Amino acid sequence: MQREMCEEKDERFSGPLLDGKDEGIQTRKLDEDAIAGADVARARWTLLRQVLHQKQVDNPGVKQVSVRRFATFDLFTRSRVVPSCPSDDQWVQYRSVSLPEYSALLRDNLGPLRVNEVLNSFDNTGNVCVWPSEEVMAHYCVKKRKMFKGTVCELGGGMTCLAGLMVAICADVKEVLLSDGNEKAIQNVRQVIERNLEAGVFGSTHVSSRVVRWDSEADVSSLEGHFDIIMCADCLFLDQYRASLVDAIRRLLRPNGMALVFAPRRRDTLGVFCRLAQEAGLSVSQHQQYDSQVWDVHLKMQGEGKDAYDDNIHYPILLTLTRGPLPPPLGHTQ
Ligand SMILES: C[S@@+](CC[C@H](N)C(=O)[O-])C[C@H]1O[C@@H](n2cnc3c(N)ncnc32)[C@H](O)[C@@H]1O
Repeated sequence: MQREMCEEKDERFSGPLLDGKDEGIQTRKLDEDAIAGADVARARWTLLRQVLHQKQVDNPGVKQVSVRRFATFDLFTRSRVVPSCPSDDQWVQYRSVSLPEYSALLRDNLGPLRVNEVLNSFDNTGNVCVWPSEEVMAHYCVKKRKMFKGTVCELGGGMTCLAGLMVAICADVKEVLLSDGNEKAIQNVRQVIERNLEAGVFGSTHVSSRVVRWDSEADVSSLEGHFDIIMCADCLFLDQYRASLVDAIRRLLRPNGMALVFAPRRRDTLGVFCRLAQEAGLSVSQHQQYDSQVWDVHLKMQGEGKDAYDDNIHYPILLTLTRGPLPPPLGHTQ
């Protein structure tokens, strides 16, 4: 499933500004003191790299090489929708491998990012592909669909909001809001919702989408205290938005609500997020072995060596966050 597209994710996260591994642009490595003031430049350079990499990924020779990088836990099959009109050719169906009765129609390839778009718009990392944490969260939600109730919101869901979409399809909930901070991602999510609505897969669940920026007071205050469950995948690496993500989760949750957050450790970015969440008064619990299928892939991939799979950047840890005391155990027996 799209290993070649997802190659870029590894590059983004192991880029010089996070890990210092990329020799080609190490000269741009910033010293600690300069980092805070260089956020904008850093984001732009990182995104520009994505654009340049996208060009490379379009080259079949590079595709051959890039399939070595880990990009999926193979929890969904991905098949092309037989086009009935020219605009149909970008649509694919994601079907849960463990519960094949649940599937969603998606458009998960928005084509190459344009330089102009990257330099002038907000974080585009959600417009590249469905990242493994999102895939794992979607799978987890399908398996745990009975724990969902009431109102649900996905934050930072990227161009598909796959996990939130699967909740809307498989769980008995009143309302699902799919959100991201990037307008282009949300334009795509809007069409994804329309398409799945036409396919009649949402039952009586009301599904909507909108731009929600964690750092926007207007966005957060308009949804304050509204959600029983908030979900979020692979959004903890953004240094400049980590504190506002914690704040948005805390404020958007109902008093007895719970947030599910999936993200790799990625050095200490997950640890810093947990500390910020605790300082904000949230109860945080961390789960490493939460699903047998995901864990089996993890163990198998670990045997393939760090070049193919590095759990620090590829294995999503599950965090649960509550406003009150710790929630009851999730019951990870399978
Ligand atoms: C790595 S992508 C993850 C997308 C998706 N969850 C996935 O895993 O495929 C990070 C997402 O966070 C979103 N994001 C970053 N900063 C944000 C902010 N301040 N407010 C809202 N969304 C933000 C980006 O637009 C992007 O879609």
